Amino acid sequence: MSTWKATACANANIALIKYWGNRDDGLRLPVTNSISFNLDGASTTTTVEFAEGQSGDQVTLDGVAAHGAAAQRITAQLDLLRARTGTKWATRVVSRNNFPMAAGIASSASGFAALTCAAAWALALDLSERELSCLARRGSGSAARSVPGGFVEWYASERDEDSFAESIAPPEHWPLHDLVAIVSQGEKPVGSTEGHQRAQTSPLFQARIAQVEADLPLMRCAIGDRDFHTLGALAERDTLMMHAVMLTSQPSLLYWTAETLAVMRAVRAWRNDGLACYFSIDAGPNVHVLTTQQASSTILQALQALPAVQAVLACNVGGGARRTDEHLF
Ligand code: PMV
Repeated sequence: MSTWKATACANANIALIKYWGNRDDGLRLPVTNSISFNLDGASTTTTVEFAEGQSGDQVTLDGVAAHGAAAQRITAQLDLLRARTGTKWATRVVSRNNFPMAAGIASSASGFAALTCAAAWALALDLSERELSCLARRGSGSAARSVPGGFVEWYASERDEDSFAESIAPPEHWPLHDLVAIVSQGEKPVGSTEGHQRAQTSPLFQARIAQVEADLPLMRCAIGDRDFHTLGALAERDTLMMHAVMLTSQPSLLYWTAETLAVMRAVRAWRNDGLACYFSIDAGPNVHVLTTQQASSTILQALQALPAVQAVLACNVGGGARRTDEHLF
């Protein structure tokens, strides 16, 4: 039996100016640009093998066979890659995260970036980073940002082929730290695909769009100048504006728990005491604490001492998706 096989590893990312709301839900074309950095401590490794004569894609995620909507979403993504070559071969996919899935750490970002790159490389498709980023976006919007390395901007566009992410500074530009305070390991009740569809129902949606457009150039400058307090203040406010949109959507989305709020309050108290830290929260209850290399160990200990926090995942700024020969099967 003939097979084509490749393995890719991709990092999750944390958005500093976030993506919330599409102009085209089917193509996952966002309403605004977004800016993030990759997280070297939170990655997905995925092996994809196309095999002649196999019937149907067989997908295993963290040791569990995927079925239903999750399996269909992966097959739809593989279909985009198959369409590029005309092959009908089905796949075996094995994927492993080194962090809890669906807990507000963007597992769909690293997952769809790794899946897309592994499939493209298995098929020997000669695709640029830009094309891989566009394709990864079709699986999960934020996955577009996990293809390039370091600090990344994803461009909004009306055209599929123009909405891609690219690096705006390499990982070594600035050793920022993201300490992810895990307060819940459970699955979130409403995923981001549905969340994006609700965004425009919020009366605050347009106000946030206007703020994002004003903040994007300021965030680019803060990264360029390594200005931590400007970056942190912009990121924290953008988190609150995105959650204000979520809270006021119809139906309303409330991702925070009492533990989320406890960490948010602690971060503000530490900041008032002079520590360099700001919070960022995605579509889940866990809290990303953005901090500097100098303050990182103090904040890590303080987070570990909070009763609300189950575990802390310490991440530095990571690179882009890469190919590896260490196949998972
Ligand atoms: O890629 P999605 O559809 O899971 O959307 C991600 C949305 C947020 O994580 C909440 C924000 C972002 O920009 O990553």
